[in-house]
Amino acid sequence: MINFSQIEKSYPFLKNIANAAAVLQMEIYIVGGFVRDILLEREKKEIDFLVIGDGVAFAENLSKKIGVEKVTVFKNFGTAHFRYNDFDLEFVGARKESYDRSSRKPVVTNGSFFDDISRRDFTINTLALSLSLNKNNYGELIDTFGGLVDIEQKLLRTPLNPEETFSDDPLRIMRAFRFASQLNFTVSDEIKTAAKAMCERLKIVSQERITDEFLKILSSPKPSIGLKLLQETEVMKIIFPEVANLQGVDQRQDYHHKDVFYHTCKVVDNIAPNTDNIWLRFAALVHDIAKPQTKRFVENIGWTFHGHEDLGARIMKGIFTRLKLPFHQLEYIRKLVRLHLRPIALAKEEVTDSAIRRFIVEAGEDLHDLITLCRADITSKNMDKVSEYLANYERVMNRVLEVEEKDKLRAFQSPVRGEEIMRICNLKPSKKVGEIKTAIEDAILDGIIPNTYEDALSYLYQIKDQHL
Ligand code: CTP
Repeated sequence: MINFSQIEKSYPFLKNIANAAAVLQMEIYIVGGFVRDILLEREKKEIDFLVIGDGVAFAENLSKKIGVEKVTVFKNFGTAHFRYNDFDLEFVGARKESYDRSSRKPVVTNGSFFDDISRRDFTINTLALSLSLNKNNYGELIDTFGGLVDIEQKLLRTPLNPEETFSDDPLRIMRAFRFASQLNFTVSDEIKTAAKAMCERLKIVSQERITDEFLKILSSPKPSIGLKLLQETEVMKIIFPEVANLQGVDQRQDYHHKDVFYHTCKVVDNIAPNTDNIWLRFAALVHDIAKPQTKRFVENIGWTFHGHEDLGARIMKGIFTRLKLPFHQLEYIRKLVRLHLRPIALAKEEVTDSAIRRFIVEAGEDLHDLITLCRADITSKNMDKVSEYLANYERVMNRVLEVEEKDKLRAFQSPVRGEEIMRICNLKPSKKVGEIKTAIEDAILDGIIPNTYEDALSYLYQIKDQHL
């Protein structure tokens, strides 16, 4: 249950808002995510207020009273917003709302508390906390649609029948799966059925809003919850067909390959605890994206996916364009997709320094992210295999460190410099001076002598006659 006196203590400014509403003889409620998140013990810095009457006029009046200068008004939506004490406060007048079916533009008329609450997305978001001093329900939690029980049961349901709720705003289909993923909730069967039946309607929603929800799913603690819901309801086919296409297993003779969609879900879940970098998580999602196009059956070998990493990198630009993803992340994603098999190759052979060096140069500053991706890509259930693969990557990383260390030394000069070599060996500037200097450097690189001036000098005396 909600402890209102605790809330009053934590957010003392709420009393000022309640008093201002009482002076104006208006009813006001805290609604939506703030109430839900208090119950879920999550912190939230945005508070939505529902005012019965003119929400914008109330916000303007209140802002003057509490000394806030800048109020942003969204006339079309009848909302007003300002920042106060580090919080984002949003005010809306109760409305009876319906949406134009061909766009997301609401057709709004004034409404009652019930009109407004019943047109919200999920029961867990319909809970309201009264701040109405003049209504004898100050501090009361108003639960019109059983949101409290749904929070307890970790269940997403719509207050009206889901067709109606989604028809008002199809983006709510994405929101359902996003909340399920963020909060680890299940969605009702009715929501799934309606989502499947109505997913085409997402086409009237702007790509930015869809992508925003999709990335929130990817940012959640266990993204596969949302990804599997998108897949199961066929919403994925509409919003990200390349990912939808990963599902399915082919069987020929005794060979079958693993289902790439479920493998991808595991990879994304594996990487989630290791990074909050949404783009590294996105790379995990798309690392095998071109497997369906490159799949071939080879007699006596089985299924192969040659070149899927290169093709995957190549098709990324089209995906970024369509999903309106930020182009400054494109190269990073392409690099990780293109290189995701390289560490395996480097672990297998007796690799040369130059192969390792090429890898270091190609991966550049993203080498650690690439290895994080490769580790997450291990989804075998056989623990012996998992340890073997992890040990392989460990070996590659050790080789990387080894070569980096050598190269660092190479970048240094011999501690005994050319002029001193010329003086001691009685030489004029010539090729010979360079040769002797390289011999000293090689001795340091090969670990024959330590990298100090004294050791280099005595080594010079030791070898100089061989070179003169
Ligand atoms: N809402 C809705 N339909 C939408 C968007 C929002 O009914 N498509 C309602 C919900 O009651 C929601 C409230 O408006 O709780 C505030 O919306 P928003 O700030 O987008 O979401 P929150 O629930 O606050 O959650 P979060 O900030 O995590 O997105």
